[in-house]
Amino acid sequence: MERHTQVSLLFSFSVCALILTSVAAQSTTNSPSTNTSTPTTTITKAASITKLPGCQKQCGNLTIPYPFGIGSGCALEPGFEIDCDTSTSTTRSPTAFIGKGIQVYHISDAEMRISNTVARSCYSLAGALLLPDEAAGMYLGSSQPYSFSELNRFTVIGCDEIPLMTGLNFSNGCFSLCANSSDAVVEGRCMGDGCCRIEIPKGLKYFETTMISVYNHTGVWDFNPCGYAFLGEASRFHFRGLADLNDTNFVERIMDNVPIVLDWAIGNLTCVEAQQHKDYACLVNSQCVDSGTGLGGYRCSCDPGYEGNPYVSPGCQGNLMSLLLLLVLGMINFYW
Ligand SMILES: *[C@@H]1O[C@H](CO)[C@@H](O)[C@H](O)[C@H]1NC(C)=O
Ligand SMILES: *[C@@H]1O[C@H](CO)[C@@H](O)[C@H](O)[C@H]1NC(C)=O
Ligand SMILES: *[C@@H]1O[C@H](CO)[C@@H](O)[C@H](O)[C@H]1NC(C)=O
Ligand SMILES: *[C@@H]1O[C@H](CO)[C@@H](O)[C@H](O)[C@H]1NC(C)=O
Ligand SMILES: *[C@@H]1O[C@H](CO)[C@@H](O)[C@H](O)[C@H]1NC(C)=O
Ligand SMILES: *[C@@H]1O[C@H](CO)[C@@H](O)[C@H](O)[C@H]1NC(C)=O
Ligand SMILES: *[C@@H]1O[C@H](CO)[C@@H](O)[C@H](O)[C@H]1NC(C)=O
Repeated sequence: MERHTQVSLLFSFSVCALILTSVAAQSTTNSPSTNTSTPTTTITKAASITKLPGCQKQCGNLTIPYPFGIGSGCALEPGFEIDCDTSTSTTRSPTAFIGKGIQVYHISDAEMRISNTVARSCYSLAGALLLPDEAAGMYLGSSQPYSFSELNRFTVIGCDEIPLMTGLNFSNGCFSLCANSSDAVVEGRCMGDGCCRIEIPKGLKYFETTMISVYNHTGVWDFNPCGYAFLGEASRFHFRGLADLNDTNFVERIMDNVPIVLDWAIGNLTCVEAQQHKDYACLVNSQCVDSGTGLGGYRCSCDPGYEGNPYVSPGCQGNLMSLLLLLVLGMINFYW
């Protein structure tokens, strides 16, 4: 009798643990769609995150988990190679790049955050183009594992701007006009008065911007002499209203605070196709996830209750909570 109470107690405890584990697993596997400033990253939470013991784990303070790697032989394929520039002066720590001038800030389970590029055109009081019109654009390479994430927006700042963002089979823009007055500009509102933004299609690997101004800022020059356009992570940009329209450090502010988010995936096969190949990358306790970009490719994701790097032996490992649960279930079996 006493033994039975013990068992039912253990049983209810294990049910609780099970619920807790699944809740915890859900909150880590479902990436939040509205605010993703904290991306899921279990890929770096493993004792070994490189393919070979000799491969570098870090470039400066950036952790580089397999399938990414520094130098050939350390990455899954050439597209996942990261250049670690150690030649920079002693005052700067080594810096990671994936292409000329494209700096890597962070690598997570499904994304990579990289440095930005901002288009700018500034005018004189009389409407002459001042600084050389700086364009913005980026080409990720057709065979590379990257494409621009839907977490980015094409954002335009200015009171006399109708710029365009152009990519492969894609061209779109928005109107950012203020009817020659700053009255309609409201901090935090990006709906056409001094600020506008548009979504981008998934799977884009290339874009460029074209700045177009109707009156060359002549009607708005006293509070907005320049127009800006950039692609970047939506949740990281907050429109500050007039302060942004007349901010000589606007470009620096965006470069320092708003990264571009890339989606990454292995190859161009779907999970079903990849699982039939001998180079299928997902190890034990993980499942295959189709990239969702429309370009093909897949990633591996630890099973609920497991964490670690699914691409590196020994693969994802049970976390403390699941181990407890297994222990409890084992005890129930034993007492039964
Ligand atoms: C990494 O290093 C850079 C430059 O030294 C620094 O700006 C950045 O805050 C560091 N990041 C982390 C996460 O420590
Ligand atoms: C605006 O600037 C462009 C480039 O400098 C120039 O070609 C054009 O004539 C200007 N338009 C107006 C209305 O000032
Ligand atoms: C772009 O459009 C062309 C013509 O419609 C089509 O053949 C091509 O597959 C498209 N490319 C992409 C990447 O969608
Ligand atoms: C805005 O200013 C420009 C240049 O000064 C002028 O040509 C235009 O008519 C003005 N637009 C409105 C809506 O007042
Ligand atoms: C815009 O900035 C300039 C230089 O920083 C300053 O002189 C001017 O007063 C500012 N204009 C407005 C409307 O804030
Ligand atoms: C996202 O979360 C961060 C930190 O929790 C917060 O600072 C930021 O304002 C949030 N952004 C949005 C768009 O909710
Ligand atoms: C898929 O990748 C392979 C090897 O990287 C390449 O040869 C092939 O052309 C790609 N297929 C498509 C549809 O992009």
